[in-house]
Amino acid sequence: MSKKSPVSRSGRFTVGPAADVAEFTESISFDWRLWQHDIQGSIAHATMLQKIGVLTKNELETIVKGLTQIAKEIAVGKFTWKAELEDVHMNIESELTKRVPAGAKLHTSRSRNDQVALDVRLWLRDEIKSLLKEIADLQRALVRLGEQHADVIIPGYTHLQRAQPVYLAHHLLAYVEMLERDCERLWDCHSRVNVCPLGSGAIAGSTLPLDRKLVAELLGFVNDAGEVQLTQNSMDGVSDRDFIIEFSAAAALLTIHFSRLAEDIILWASSEFNFLHIADAYTTGSSLMPQKKNPDIAELARGKTGRVVGNLMALLTLLKGLPMTYNRDLQEDKERLFDTADTVRATTRLLAAMLAHKETYVKTAVCAAAAADSMLLATDLADYLVKKGMPFRHAHHIVGAVVALSEKTGKPLHQLTLAELQDIDQTFGNDALSVFDLKTAMNKRNLPGAPGTREVARQLARWRQQLS
Ligand code: ARG
Repeated sequence: MSKKSPVSRSGRFTVGPAADVAEFTESISFDWRLWQHDIQGSIAHATMLQKIGVLTKNELETIVKGLTQIAKEIAVGKFTWKAELEDVHMNIESELTKRVPAGAKLHTSRSRNDQVALDVRLWLRDEIKSLLKEIADLQRALVRLGEQHADVIIPGYTHLQRAQPVYLAHHLLAYVEMLERDCERLWDCHSRVNVCPLGSGAIAGSTLPLDRKLVAELLGFVNDAGEVQLTQNSMDGVSDRDFIIEFSAAAALLTIHFSRLAEDIILWASSEFNFLHIADAYTTGSSLMPQKKNPDIAELARGKTGRVVGNLMALLTLLKGLPMTYNRDLQEDKERLFDTADTVRATTRLLAAMLAHKETYVKTAVCAAAAADSMLLATDLADYLVKKGMPFRHAHHIVGAVVALSEKTGKPLHQLTLAELQDIDQTFGNDALSVFDLKTAMNKRNLPGAPGTREVARQLARWRQQLS
């Protein structure tokens, strides 16, 4: 056996790669992050190799011991990664083989092609679960903010123009709904990540009688029904990365939702809206203007959307037109994947922390003043006429005339007199102006999903329960 490191070049090549080639091709500078999952996969593979008679009990034991020791050293930063060994897989295997002769048997019927596909799936499986927990924290922060200000009403907007009144909680719960769908998409994606590719070899499996099912079981590749999940085509198993793209797409949509939430927060924190005070700890000052308090966290949450969407585009482009099966191009998937995962995790956490901070609060008096704009209830006045039997198109026209009168006289809608209303249309009765009582108006909109008093309370209670 060659005394050289067990890299794939040994035997076939007489010289190592040129220095600049090593630098160009290495991935250890970023894929070292897969070390735990690489070792986890190797232990499962070795366990199976012993079961089918490739390793003796003693060899398996020394391999597991060696890998466990290496894991300990990596965990405390005592392991030296070597760029000339290219990637995390060869760094660990090479070190193992230096210490444990049986390490040279570990790669039996395994290629870095199925190994890297396995490692990324294991890594992403954990990542999705952690991300889901963090999204739930953000959802809880939104629900709590809504509960703390359960009676706060604000104008709802379309086209960023005042439209109709809504409870602040209703507005916040809209984001809870979006985030819930993001969670569903991520969990759905998880079911396709959670499939074991090991045993695919480099492209064509192995001539040895590997027990793929055992490896998958050991690594927890099992669905909700308890069925073991194996990739069903070795060529597909080593070469597709659609599960990474799916995750990246779900993450991109998540950041799109973040950017909308961030934009609302930025607007609400402006002097023009002034609905929200963001805790000082989650804002920054200006180096020039002493009065400034900038919502940089929300702005970065909005801005980071660009990277995550960009990563998705990079990954889609990476896969496009790749001939079967594994091509080194695929190494380019990891930095984009890691960057997306890190970015969405951090953004989720920061948004949750900012909203949950005790010094982040809603300026209730400002909200009340804005919600008191009786124009917000112009549609309610049209509904009043509809209840009296008038066709809606006609009622819309009549109330349009009432709005025009209000604008012309400078008198808010609710301060117009009954006589002025009846001048426009006789259908208005004594009770017409009672439409402008905001509390009553909010009590009237209790359709499922509407921002009525009872319905919003019901939705808050539902979410509190669902997220507990
Ligand atoms: N570092 C490689 C990657 O991330 C691992 C697989 C390399 N396989 C190979 N045959 N060169 O894709």
